[in-house]
Amino acid sequence: IHEHYDLLSKWVANYIVGKIKAHQGKSTKPFVLGLPTGSSPLGTYRELVKLNKNGKVSFKNVITFNMDEYVALPESHPESYHSFMYSNLFDHIDIPSENINILDGNAPDLEAECLQYEEKIKAVGGIDLFLGGIGIDGHIAFNEPGSSLNSRTRVKTLNTETRMVNSRFFDNDINQVPKLALTVGVGTVMDAREVVIIVSGHQKSRALHKAVEGGVSHMWTLSALQLHNKSMIVCDEPATDEL
Ligand code: GLP
Repeated sequence: IHEHYDLLSKWVANYIVGKIKAHQGKSTKPFVLGLPTGSSPLGTYRELVKLNKNGKVSFKNVITFNMDEYVALPESHPESYHSFMYSNLFDHIDIPSENINILDGNAPDLEAECLQYEEKIKAVGGIDLFLGGIGIDGHIAFNEPGSSLNSRTRVKTLNTETRMVNSRFFDNDINQVPKLALTVGVGTVMDAREVVIIVSGHQKSRALHKAVEGGVSHMWTLSALQLHNKSMIVCDEPATDEL
């Protein structure tokens, strides 16, 4: 628990850098990093960019897999998760473009796209560290309440609450928010060797309470982490209001 968001962000960025460096000290294999979008990781991304520019870390031997992407939103749309990731992180660090993996929400066969994504993750030996955020209903990636805790990468219908919350990025017009998304499953996240989740702000405090102090439940998909061997929730004080 950190006092505020900036401290949380610095801490998470330094933690990730420490993991990348420790891995690079032991192995020539790339470090495989799962990444989220949203406002929660923005501060962490800003710090990672700084640390990369200062020469404290290189992403040349890092492979990334993003958690999710909207369906049928053009990649070039400013609110696509592709755009988000390039403008907030990838355009500013030394990661080779071939190391970046983001689900294609415009693929002609969405189910095949999801299967291939799982295969690609397997082919690089699995994810070393999955960074994530949560929705106010406790969803990780786009695993809305009711998602199987064993779910894999798939097409998901977004619920109205999530679309309402995300409409702030679409002129506050819910009708512009895509109805479908591609998302890694809860099971995909759980397969990562380590999971780090950022929870910031009072509006997430109920979800944090349910996920940490409630039982494991598919209605609060973050709660699945109770069963993970190496998972951590990094939060700021306001997020702990209901603990
Ligand atoms: C979306 C994303 C999630 C993210 C959530 C919370 O639903 N698919 O991965 O965790 O938004 O976003 P924010 O961090 O902006 O609250």
